[in-house]
Amino acid sequence: MLLHIPGVLDDAATARMRAALAAAGWTDGRETVGPQGAKVKHNRQLPEASPLRTELGREVLAALARHPLFHPAALPLRILPPRFNRYEGGGEYGLHIDGAVMALPDGTQLRSDLACTLFLSEPESYEGGELVVSDSYGEHEAKLPAGDAVLYPASSLHRVRPVTRGTRLAAFFWIQSLVRDDAQRRMLFELDASIRRLTSTGADADAVLQLTGVYHNLLRQWTET
Ligand code: NI
Repeated sequence: MLLHIPGVLDDAATARMRAALAAAGWTDGRETVGPQGAKVKHNRQLPEASPLRTELGREVLAALARHPLFHPAALPLRILPPRFNRYEGGGEYGLHIDGAVMALPDGTQLRSDLACTLFLSEPESYEGGELVVSDSYGEHEAKLPAGDAVLYPASSLHRVRPVTRGTRLAAFFWIQSLVRDDAQRRMLFELDASIRRLTSTGADADAVLQLTGVYHNLLRQWTET
């Protein structure tokens, strides 16, 4: 499932982040990928140890935690501190797959179930730069307003089209979900959404309670920690 999460950051926050990133020191994006990824990755990233990465990354995660869609859709267990990238002058990231297991700063590891990209540049300000995700239903494209995010299974092949005009800034990170399986996670997300709707429209309280029990008991069966 490719999920658009609108309005994670407001205009003032994205403008502030763009200004901070414009003044930042950048490094070659190939530093955080293996030899296969390095052949197709042509962008720049904030250095791993950059204090700005830590600061803005915290802000991104705090905003997502407040967003009503993020938690029910991702059911996060562990999250890699966000990284920030910059594409310009024809920069692109060819078709690739993300690593399945990643090291976290505390020495533990994360299984990358979900990938998330938060767009920081307004789409009209650059040409190209679409995130293209391939799955069994075909190709899906995302080029979202600044402040919007897209959540997609890290198991899918994906790429970023060349940015031929302007600059594309984004935050990106991976999530290990409590629920590993994408189809199970999707059913829980839909069930949660319909329970919320039933609650807000004043449906039969006993029936809603029973359905809420089903949600939690499915979550209990499918959760891995
Ligand atoms: Ni990737």
